[in-house]
Amino acid sequence: MQTISHEQLNFLLTRRSIRKFKPVPVDMNTVKRILDVARYAPSAGNRQPWIFIVVTDKEVKDRLAKIHRWAYPLESAPLGVVVACNKDISPESYQVDCACATMYIMFAAHALGLGTVWLQTLRNIEDVQKILNLPSNYVPIAMLAIGYPDEQPTAKSRKELKDIAFLNKYGAALQP
Ligand SMILES: Cc1cc2nc3c(=O)[nH]c(=O)nc-3n(C[C@H](O)[C@H](O)[C@H](O)COP(=O)(O)O)c2cc1C
Repeated sequence: MQTISHEQLNFLLTRRSIRKFKPVPVDMNTVKRILDVARYAPSAGNRQPWIFIVVTDKEVKDRLAKIHRWAYPLESAPLGVVVACNKDISPESYQVDCACATMYIMFAAHALGLGTVWLQTLRNIEDVQKILNLPSNYVPIAMLAIGYPDEQPTAKSRKELKDIAFLNKYGAALQP
């Protein structure tokens, strides 16, 4: 029998990027629940430099879906969330802080049976700022397409642990 911790690890291992969504709306209370969890992501000095912009308006969503060719999943998703960070609040670590919050959103959504995919924004910062009316000190770090999955992708391949994990110094094998 699996222990609870195995189940929790399995939860992490079963998250997949979802790019095809059912045409089913996501209840706003569910969205709020997810974002409420994201507030508990770690951040340097607990400065929490993030804000979350939920996008349900089709026109805004479609514009975001077109900022680059790999943002297309947002078109079929019932909603998007843009994670933006105030770079003045945490000039050195706003990007990593926001990446943590983004992962919290992804895992909270996964826990509620929703699929997500992280969509790149860092090459299109000004486009996103313009579409969302974001002040220039708010940098969109990530954009997520969120919805009920309409695909079940298999896990993408990963690098072998032996090639990326070392003991005490770079290059030293973790296990003999
Ligand atoms: C910073 C970042 C940017 C990404 N940008 C995109 C993107 O623009 N479009 C997309 O479809 N997937 C994007 N992804 C998702 C990755 O392609 C995906 O996480 C990776 O292939 C591993 O697959 P998995 O999430 O199913 O494990 C991005 C992921 C990260 C972390």
